[in-house]
Amino acid sequence: MMVFAASRVRVDVPATSANLGPGFDACGLALGFYDTIYVEALPTQSVDIEIIGEGADTLPRDERHLIVKALRAAAEEFDLPEFGLRMKAYNRIPQSRGMGSSASAIVAGVSLAAGLAGLDSTQREIRDAIFQVAARIEGHPDNVAPAVYGGMTVSWKSGQDFRTQIYPVHKDIHAWIFIPNFELSTEEARKVLPSTVPYADALTNVSRVALLPAAMANADNDLLFEATEDTLHQPYRAPLMQASADLMTFLRSQGYASTISGAGPCVLALHASDATDSLHNITARGVDMSHWHMVHLSVDRSGVQISAE
Ligand code: HSE
Repeated sequence: MMVFAASRVRVDVPATSANLGPGFDACGLALGFYDTIYVEALPTQSVDIEIIGEGADTLPRDERHLIVKALRAAAEEFDLPEFGLRMKAYNRIPQSRGMGSSASAIVAGVSLAAGLAGLDSTQREIRDAIFQVAARIEGHPDNVAPAVYGGMTVSWKSGQDFRTQIYPVHKDIHAWIFIPNFELSTEEARKVLPSTVPYADALTNVSRVALLPAAMANADNDLLFEATEDTLHQPYRAPLMQASADLMTFLRSQGYASTISGAGPCVLALHASDATDSLHNITARGVDMSHWHMVHLSVDRSGVQISAE
């Protein structure tokens, strides 16, 4: 007989934006934009998956589904017995757009296992365990960390462990994601990166990324603009997503702190105060917005939410 602390678990997992410009493979921000997943453990070997929303036409409905793979790996870590499952996924986070959909799927799977095991995710050490398992599956921590903890994170690998530091984000910071109607795989976006970079470019990024926590904590728009400049990855990736590079350049020319979101092709804009009307107005005048969908988002401050039923 199966023994679970809960037989039905819900998780709400945020989208994330990695890099934030200069913090390549290190910085990340959790966005108030969520996938919601329900899982019920079954005393059989069957897997029954329903997908609503993003990926409904393309994602596998068996053990190959990334959430199920992560759930299985974490179930082993958390000493759960074997089980079948019924899963319902309400997917809002678009895929292959630079909003961390695969990290969110992995964090969802690991969190579902934690919920089934009855682990208390309000405890910091349980969140740390979820982060370690999820980062190991993903292979790098920059999207996983904000999806687990919320807010702005800076993550790194220390020996075999992944580590992260959470930084305060001022309540006045708003985010806008510009979602294009085209995709770009992270794998493609990583292939074009050079193996070495000019020393001066490294220096630019070191100073900018060091400024970023102060800009986010103080909601300082001038500093935010400077702190989101990047020379290490965005210029090399621009030819793969020229429309994104053009939109980012345009937004920066209008004074808005803008970056490529993660590996792209979404564009992220950050501003201390609600600039939605202004962004609508300037983009309507300066950009062909027919291929873009602009979404105004809050910063998520809680990370993945797990509720057992
Ligand atoms: N830091 C990663 C990149 C984010 O820019 O390639 C995507 O996982």
